[in-house]
Amino acid sequence: MRTQQWLLELKGYIIRSTTEAARDFWPSPNEVGSPYFNFRLEHIRQVERDALHIMNSERGDEEIVMASVWIHDRFQPQFEGAQHADKAARWTREHLSQLGFPSHKVESVALAVKHHTRRSMDIPQELREAQMLWDADRLARLGPMNLISYMMTHLAEDFLKDLSGNSQFKSGSLSIKDFTPILLEKRSALFRADWFYFDESRTIARKRIAATRAFLDVLETQIY
Ligand SMILES: [Fe+2]
Ligand SMILES: [Fe+2]
Repeated sequence: MRTQQWLLELKGYIIRSTTEAARDFWPSPNEVGSPYFNFRLEHIRQVERDALHIMNSERGDEEIVMASVWIHDRFQPQFEGAQHADKAARWTREHLSQLGFPSHKVESVALAVKHHTRRSMDIPQELREAQMLWDADRLARLGPMNLISYMMTHLAEDFLKDLSGNSQFKSGSLSIKDFTPILLEKRSALFRADWFYFDESRTIARKRIAATRAFLDVLETQIY
């Protein structure tokens, strides 16, 4: 798909809104610059890569996939996002066609973003792009990249301000000794490679889980 005007505008809009929200957590180190991290934007880009990968090995509509990826967390610009899936679906129905997105595909995007927070796997077969977004959004939580994201979010300014009162970090700093057990706890919680709609997603999940497990197994031996 050639990059279309609606997608450029949509990406610009999401980059601006997430960057604005990121200033509260990772303020610019200088007066005029950008925040030093943007967790939500990094997440969206990871979901985009995985969703396109799944779409290329399965059947799907690229315009619906791309619009869904970029809109799905619009109302969760960093960490807060009550009912953000429903809000994103409403935004899609009210605004997406104004950007020049094909009107007849708007409802498919609205349903994809609406379903992305479903806790059970009950998205109907005919909503393939919704299933792709759901898979990609979960794949983003697996693997070495997720551990990097996890570390980076712990460098958010609001977290660092509360560090001295945080019982998990007894030294009052982000010491390796405090942090390592928290990472090791992730070993059991996230590891389900079967819980995806597509074979390709399960293949990616298995690789990421294996890599994370190997990483954490060795890390465990390095605690001092
Ligand atoms: Fe979300
Ligand atoms: Fe997401």
